[in-house]
Amino acid sequence: MPANKMTIVGMARSCRKQIFVVSGEYMKRITKAVFPVAGMGSRFLPATKVSPKEMMPIVDKPLIQYAVEEAVAAGITDMVFITGRNKRSIEDHFDKAYELEAELAMRGKDELLRIVREVTPSHINCIYIRQVEPLGLGHAVLCAKPVVQDEPFAVLLADDLIDGDPPIIKQMVGVFKQHQCSVLGVQNVPREQTRQYGIVSSVPLSDVLEQVNGIVEKPRPEDAPTTLGVVGRYILTPRIFDHLEKVQAGAGGEIQLTDGIAALMREEKMLAYRFSGTRYDCGSKLGYLKATVALGLKHPEVCGEFAAYLKSI
Ligand code: G1P
Repeated sequence: MPANKMTIVGMARSCRKQIFVVSGEYMKRITKAVFPVAGMGSRFLPATKVSPKEMMPIVDKPLIQYAVEEAVAAGITDMVFITGRNKRSIEDHFDKAYELEAELAMRGKDELLRIVREVTPSHINCIYIRQVEPLGLGHAVLCAKPVVQDEPFAVLLADDLIDGDPPIIKQMVGVFKQHQCSVLGVQNVPREQTRQYGIVSSVPLSDVLEQVNGIVEKPRPEDAPTTLGVVGRYILTPRIFDHLEKVQAGAGGEIQLTDGIAALMREEKMLAYRFSGTRYDCGSKLGYLKATVALGLKHPEVCGEFAAYLKSI
């Protein structure tokens, strides 16, 4: 695996390592989240011709900010972005905007200033790694190895916007704390859509937890073992890197995260977690529109008028 095809382009603030004690055992805490954001976003061209799909807003926040906020809510402090060409605006978004802040302060726009400053809470670190070639999601996650090293970590795909309370990655960190193994966020998907997902086979352990015993990337509906689809939320143990280093190009000619997970599952316990919340596939136009409507109807500034408008049409 071309582990050399990556460059760490920036590391903000300090790096830390934390362990904590639970029930007398030392357990690793999830402090790092990986955000693969190097994809082309071709389904949203021409909107994504020069700006990243992860910067597309739902009401007033870019998709990537929803994902980062979800990670922050789960107690994660190190945000590792796997970026590519044309993704500079993501780095800028999480950087300090001196001129804008000075301008807002000068004009007394305190509320806007607060909103701008809160994009990056002061206790989080943003780390950017460049994925030089678009070799697939598995390769993107492997690019995070020099930073994540030997810790369990979260992966969030920003185009899966999941509205949940508590936020889904927090729910999954809770499962990890209890079971100390990899956890995949899953939901039932229509059989005709299995080609869009990693599909797991599993044995139920409770209403919300399943023990995974198989996973396959984007099977045809007639070949799919089940209709339990993996959504863009993962907690993975660092052993995944050893497997991703060996994985060959799979579905779509790409290094698939799913294939690494399949190998990991053969040697470690792995759980699938039926999260509670609503997922919007913002990688598709329809999902993006649904998210805009749903979150617009919840937005304190516009919800009333927007609801009235929708009724009127
Ligand atoms: C990726 C994964 C797939 C997963 C999906 C969730 O596919 O490869 O296993 O089910 O995300 O959104 P993508 O949507 O990037 O094609």
